[in-house]
Amino acid sequence: MARKVSVIGGGGNVGASCALYVAQMEIADVVMIDIVEGVPQGKALDLQQSGPVEGWDAYVTGSNDFAAIKNSDVVVVTAGFPRKPGMSREDLLKANADIVRNASEMIKLHAPHAFVIIVTNPLDVMAYLAWKTTGFPKNRVMGMAGVLDSARLRTFVALELGVASEDVHAMVLGGHGDSMVPLPRYTTVGGISITELLTPAQIEAISKRTANGGAEIVALLKTGSAFYAPAASAAQMVEAILKDKRRVLPAAVMLEGEYGMKGLFIGVPIILGAQGVERIIQIKLSPEEQAALQKSGDAVKKTIGELGL
Ligand code: LAC
Repeated sequence: MARKVSVIGGGGNVGASCALYVAQMEIADVVMIDIVEGVPQGKALDLQQSGPVEGWDAYVTGSNDFAAIKNSDVVVVTAGFPRKPGMSREDLLKANADIVRNASEMIKLHAPHAFVIIVTNPLDVMAYLAWKTTGFPKNRVMGMAGVLDSARLRTFVALELGVASEDVHAMVLGGHGDSMVPLPRYTTVGGISITELLTPAQIEAISKRTANGGAEIVALLKTGSAFYAPAASAAQMVEAILKDKRRVLPAAVMLEGEYGMKGLFIGVPIILGAQGVERIIQIKLSPEEQAALQKSGDAVKKTIGELGL
């Protein structure tokens, strides 16, 4: 296949699942990079061997050498430590910053034309760090969070109403943290706003569960964090770029005045296509929604400050 997608952290749960989802789409060959010797190679081989059973063809390889990402079209960064129970995403800050900084330098060196999708937490800050370290234009660096957070909201709405989740569309803005901003007004079921279908109390409970969605899974797994939904969300963004789908979805992108903020990455609605972040869509927020987004932005900025960026 002509296209190439690399997953840095490909030996981990999010990375390996992402590699699988991308391989299944038959849109690119996949390279899994990880520092643990043998693991990306072994997982790549295993994954490749599921191809004939599942009926897809893509070349999947694993390596401990960053040079293997050479000339990738898209690089997904999942490498980092996952959260443990009770840990906030910010607790991971320093350890994961070293990993993402190194990965970004390697991307700059070996895949200077790639689009970069950051999954490592704290995600908005890591996306900023990757943008800064690579020096890439802002349309080529983004963080995956909005798709995941919206998927959680969609799931909870579908479960509550007993309807197909594919008919539920949702919008969650802000940082990928406790301060994320679910937007019930822009969350619809077959085009009908959930404000028409659910009570304020139900919406409040679902919004809370969404913001706590990652922590709920961490508490259950105890030794790691969610991976299927984060990986599927990153794969969907890869697909949007490689197929030039111009998907409209929330993602963490660089703001330069949009939504009254600048100098940070945070989740807002974008158009995602062959040029990466093709446009930031500015929607009218209520004063409460704007205040919540601003608060979320302040939290992200504070963390960026803690890293001395
Ligand atoms: C989550 C982690 C990956 O939200 O941030 O599940």
